[in-house]
Amino acid sequence: MLKIKDLNVSYGQTQVLQEIGLSATEGEFIGIIGPNGSGKTTLLKAITKVLKPTSGTIVIDGTNIEKMGSNEIAKNVAVVSQVVSINFEFTVKDIVLMGRNPYIKSSESVEDINIANDVMEKTNINFLKDRMITQLSGGELQRVIIARALTQTPKILLLDEPTSHLDITNQIEILNLVKKSSTKGMVVIAVMHDLNLAAYYCDKICLLRDGCMISIGTPKQVLTPTNIEVAFNLPIEVMNNDRTNSIYVMPILEPLNEISD
Ligand SMILES: Nc1ncnc2c1ncn2[C@@H]1O[C@H](COP(=O)(O)OP(=O)(O)OP(=O)(O)O)[C@@H](O)[C@H]1O
Ligand SMILES: [Mg+2]
Repeated sequence: MLKIKDLNVSYGQTQVLQEIGLSATEGEFIGIIGPNGSGKTTLLKAITKVLKPTSGTIVIDGTNIEKMGSNEIAKNVAVVSQVVSINFEFTVKDIVLMGRNPYIKSSESVEDINIANDVMEKTNINFLKDRMITQLSGGELQRVIIARALTQTPKILLLDEPTSHLDITNQIEILNLVKKSSTKGMVVIAVMHDLNLAAYYCDKICLLRDGCMISIGTPKQVLTPTNIEVAFNLPIEVMNNDRTNSIYVMPILEPLNEISD
């Protein structure tokens, strides 16, 4: 479904991503983790052709994205960006329906409207549908933006810190929903800062540091004390969660009265 090979991306003279290789098959949920500034958002921007790589290839479903127009990219890839600001007076249902734009020729069809309604139902935003987008809380807005991306019915869903504005219940609800969509075949690539949620939801995790992929594999392979120390400069303990059969990580903190200047 997605094959990234030897990808290098620069901003002007500064190289930000180096020799990234990553592949995803149907239904995979892939987490991208790494410190602030390590290149996670840049990688997502390369996949949507917002940034042109200096070298390397990105192939979606057998086609190099260099050969795809923006509409074709939009039919294949939906993005939920890290920072979203919408200052126009649209209602929530208008915004969600915009997910169908790549498919709409003159005006939306009954099918387009049905898809949007179905997604609003599943993302629990029906009660917001007639509200103005400018009058939502941060968490409500984030759910609407995720709903718009799902309405796009993409083959690949890119999420850049999708749950940063959500309370813990909504984080789990949205990630459950995204996970369910991935089990139906959609590839999910999610930038995540919560390592425990990444361990639980991801089939594969890719760890970036300074634009290089320093580890890729299952959560158990990637979330090791050594890898996390190297990437984040933070000692952690890894434990097994027998109930979920996943791992969780805990930073090893000093007692508060031992924190020195
Ligand atoms: N438009 C830009 N022009 C120049 N440099 C940029 C630009 N956008 C990002 N960078 C730099 O590229 C590097 C990677 O940025 P990127 O946004 O990909 O990081 P990130 O891993 O998503 O970080 P965060 O966790 O803070 O969101 C950083 O050093 C950043 O300062
Ligand atoms: Mg980012």
